Amino acid sequence: MLNDIDHVAIAVNDLDAAVRFYESALGAVVVHTEEVESDGVREVLVRAGSSYVQLLSPLHESSPVARFLATRGEGLHHVGYRVDDCAAALDAFRRAGARLLDETPRSGSRGTRIAFIHPKGAFGTLIELVEEAPSSERPNPGLG
Ligand code: CO
Repeated sequence: MLNDIDHVAIAVNDLDAAVRFYESALGAVVVHTEEVESDGVREVLVRAGSSYVQLLSPLHESSPVARFLATRGEGLHHVGYRVDDCAAALDAFRRAGARLLDETPRSGSRGTRIAFIHPKGAFGTLIELVEEAPSSERPNPGLG
């Protein structure tokens, strides 16, 4: 079911500063930038092998990421697992007794289908299930 880590998401206050840090320290290459209105976030993906580091900052104060930064500060926000079938993976979590934040898959960035699992009942980690778009529909074909 779990093909790979799709991304590790890190919440930051200053997205540009975080990108510069990853670029200068690791030679990181930005492969995608997107504003995801439904989640109230701006995201930057830098490549890490076949996975990504996703740097996240809030678009507005009512964003869940704004609340996260206010209460917990910067740091690891969630782990995205790459799956073949988001709906099937979500059902497996449902059957395992997990608390679901999304009852059905929805649209994510890069044309993906995603669903989130609540950290309570998942050993303290917010989990995202990520089903990639067909390669022909990806904004960066050949990457990831
Ligand atoms: Co994510």
